Amino acid sequence: MTWPADAPAFLLGVATSGHQVDGDQPPAHNDWTAWEHAGRTREPSGAAVRHWQRFPQDLALFRQIGANAYRFSLEWSRLEPAPGEYDDEALAHYQEMTEACRVHGLEPLVTVSHFTLPPWLTHGWLSPEAPARFAALAGRMAAALDPVRFWCTINEPNVLALMGYVEGQWPPGQHRPGTAAGVLWAQLRAHRAAYRAMKQVRPAIWVGIAHHLVHFRPARATPGDRAAAWTADRIFNQWPIRRAGPQDFLGVNYYAPRWVSPATLANPSLVGPVPGPTTAMGWSVDPDGFRQTLVRLGRRGQPLLVTENGIATDDEAARGAYIAQHRAALEQARAAGADVRGYFYWSGLDNFEWAEGYRPHFGLIAVNRDTQERTVKPGAAAFTDWARAIRPDAPPPPPR
Ligand code: FCB
Repeated sequence: MTWPADAPAFLLGVATSGHQVDGDQPPAHNDWTAWEHAGRTREPSGAAVRHWQRFPQDLALFRQIGANAYRFSLEWSRLEPAPGEYDDEALAHYQEMTEACRVHGLEPLVTVSHFTLPPWLTHGWLSPEAPARFAALAGRMAAALDPVRFWCTINEPNVLALMGYVEGQWPPGQHRPGTAAGVLWAQLRAHRAAYRAMKQVRPAIWVGIAHHLVHFRPARATPGDRAAAWTADRIFNQWPIRRAGPQDFLGVNYYAPRWVSPATLANPSLVGPVPGPTTAMGWSVDPDGFRQTLVRLGRRGQPLLVTENGIATDDEAARGAYIAQHRAALEQARAAGADVRGYFYWSGLDNFEWAEGYRPHFGLIAVNRDTQERTVKPGAAAFTDWARAIRPDAPPPPPR
């Protein structure tokens, strides 16, 4: 695949997803709004950060902190409110957004599906029509959002299957590992069909999946725990990548390691204890796990795009350190041969973190949800430093 001649050589961007930032979606809008209104999250998404209305200002801020790219997602329920019925106004909104990306010097990377599903898919990804309906939507979008050259079909198929069908913390709240495997497979089939539909209309676009990769570490230095870490890696990380079919790049969402043992594997809800300090998500910080993940994936010989990486914290020094350490790890992985073509920090804005509500703060930009006022955080300076190393004309970093 040829990299578009006028795209930045390295995409340095920020990421969001529609449901987490758009706001004002009625209770029956998608599976998540229904879940929220059933009281299954810390709080409902509500007005979110009104990115639907405020995206022009947000894109200008992303550019101001040095981004040259922006990853955002489409909301299937808005685009196709009933099976086969497409909404022109929703499409026009995304056309405006991609145009605004161009105006602000941001290369768009669009995710077709980031977790939320329309209510008419009554069995979610297990609905028999889901892969074909999804592929039809993806093909239409690739044709209609013409300037978009980088696409993720689906965000984290393995996480959706785990959280919704094993841990039961996300819709539809099931505890059935056998079903989870079927849900994962249905998403991979949907990706394959979408890939074909998109490439048929726009052969030059880059299409991949945003895979979630965990760096599995053995809980203790025993052969049993080592075998458990190896097995977890095969099932959770490698299987979806191998079985997804064609991908022009591998999208990598990396946050943290997990410590596993045979007991963890026997009951995947039993996440092993996390040694040492953690973030507001209870996750550990492990940039070397990031380096190892990229080096190992890089051996597959495909281009990599880091589609998400970030920290939930209110400690801006910790955010800056996280970014600097993961940047160094990425650069080491590149020096070791991994073909990493981009990095998207999660997230551009503080937003609705699924079951956790608004408590975790991943953003480079804070949002006061009473006034919707935006403020660039000191931790964003580490991102701007990176931008300036790539693009000397990038603006000066915000005060630390
Ligand atoms: C990822 C999701 C993203 C966000 C981050 C923290 O698993 O893709 O929507 O919630 O985690």
